[in-house]
Amino acid sequence: MGEINHRGWEPRILGFLCNWCSYAGADLAGISRFQYPPNLRVIRTMCSARVDPAFIIQAFLSGFDGVMVLGCHLGDCHYIIGNYHAQIKMRMTKRLLEIVGVNPDRLYLDWVSAAEGERFAQLVTKFTREMEEIGPLNRGGALSQRLQAAKMTVEGERIRWLVGKGLSIMEEGNVFGQKISPKEFETLLYTALWDEYVKNRIALLLEEGPKSVREIATAIGLSQEATSSYLVDLEEGGDIALLCFEGRTPKYRKVG
Ligand code: FES
Repeated sequence: MGEINHRGWEPRILGFLCNWCSYAGADLAGISRFQYPPNLRVIRTMCSARVDPAFIIQAFLSGFDGVMVLGCHLGDCHYIIGNYHAQIKMRMTKRLLEIVGVNPDRLYLDWVSAAEGERFAQLVTKFTREMEEIGPLNRGGALSQRLQAAKMTVEGERIRWLVGKGLSIMEEGNVFGQKISPKEFETLLYTALWDEYVKNRIALLLEEGPKSVREIATAIGLSQEATSSYLVDLEEGGDIALLCFEGRTPKYRKVG
């Protein structure tokens, strides 16, 4: 991305603004005539918690270079803990962007109240300048497929369940009353995130046609041994099947 000459280029930025605070803050910025760059396109949501990580990945797939998520200050959410859920989701999405090879600074989460029109204008200006520095998101190579796998990952049942239960597991505990620390939860979530992402990458690669373990391992950047354990999982789940052997290397195909 660094070698792209982006003189004359303007970043495309998508902003998800909570209806109750940040959207009103944006309104106030307009009424008060605070200046900020015109790069931002806005989607109004009822709460920052409504911003599904899949929306963020889709924004990058659709041509945006940066995404802002702005909600009510912590403690001010109209749905009490919505913005705490948003924090978990956005932290996880940043981790996923890192895995995919997208600079996580392209996603920004912050809080703006209805009275903070000037702060809204300042945040948009700062983020736009940062995106100008980082440059356009180059969707060439395999990035689109990696983003697609990331979207499938956050839409999957395992990750949705973990994200949805995260706060209650940390604060109230599981069905046995056992609580886990934020650090333990993060480890659990990020391990699941990586596993699901790799499996989705394999599924997308096999949609292109049958591939050997060696080919899959090379495309994903994993050892053949690590790749094989994911292939066994997918085979047991009925998602893929062994097609034949190429020499001593197994070759797999997608089922269905
Ligand atoms: Fe604004 Fe929840 S209502 S962040």
